[in-house]
Amino acid sequence: MISTARDARFWDRASEKYARSTIKDQAGYERTLERTRELLPAHASVLELGCGTGTTALRLAESVQRYLATDIAPAMIAIAQQKHEANPLPSLAFQVATAETLADEAEVFDAVLGFNYLHLVHDLPATLRAVHGLLAPGGLFISKTACLGDMNPLIRLLLLPVMRVAGLAPTVVVFDAAGLEREIRAAGFEIVLRESHASKGKDTRPFIVARRK
Ligand SMILES: C[S@@+](CC[C@H](N)C(=O)[O-])C[C@H]1O[C@@H](n2cnc3c(N)ncnc32)[C@H](O)[C@@H]1O
Repeated sequence: MISTARDARFWDRASEKYARSTIKDQAGYERTLERTRELLPAHASVLELGCGTGTTALRLAESVQRYLATDIAPAMIAIAQQKHEANPLPSLAFQVATAETLADEAEVFDAVLGFNYLHLVHDLPATLRAVHGLLAPGGLFISKTACLGDMNPLIRLLLLPVMRVAGLAPTVVVFDAAGLEREIRAAGFEIVLRESHASKGKDTRPFIVARRK
């Protein structure tokens, strides 16, 4: 199994390219931002996991009271912090962290966000349990995740294993949308909303809102 440290190094190396990349479905992304904003009250304390270079955090943070944006990769956070310096928002802070490392701290949040992230964690049930522990009772876990089980089997069965062995891909977990929802429920959540935000093609990244029971 690839270690968490190796994943952090993979994403560190990918950070500059990631920062230069463009969003493939801008209209779908805007829809996700709009729906997320609607779900977050102005007084909310929000945690984002796997925030990458902070693009989403910089768009959402000003509508809530506190927004802690985190990522496993220090280089991603460094780029996010440079962007933040150019556009300071008092409610926003960046930190190198994962759900598991944050679970040791006492802070709980009204909402946890994870976009394009859940398929990248080593132990999905353990991460979801950590997310559950990071939320106040009734708090929301909002995610949009690539469900590789719903994608072309060629990518899943042939390309990914080869890329992983060659060090060209990080940890990737394969599940379909129904399987992901099952895992979220098993961690102590009820699913309160599922939507499709893609503006083109087959949507294999469902927007799922789950409430901590
Ligand atoms: C595909 S990028 C998505 C970034 C951003 N959320 C977005 O939607 O553009 C995945 C991000 O998750 C981070 N990541 C991968 N595994 C992680 C983990 N176990 N915990 C926290 N972050 C992780 C990577 O460093 C990377 O920045």
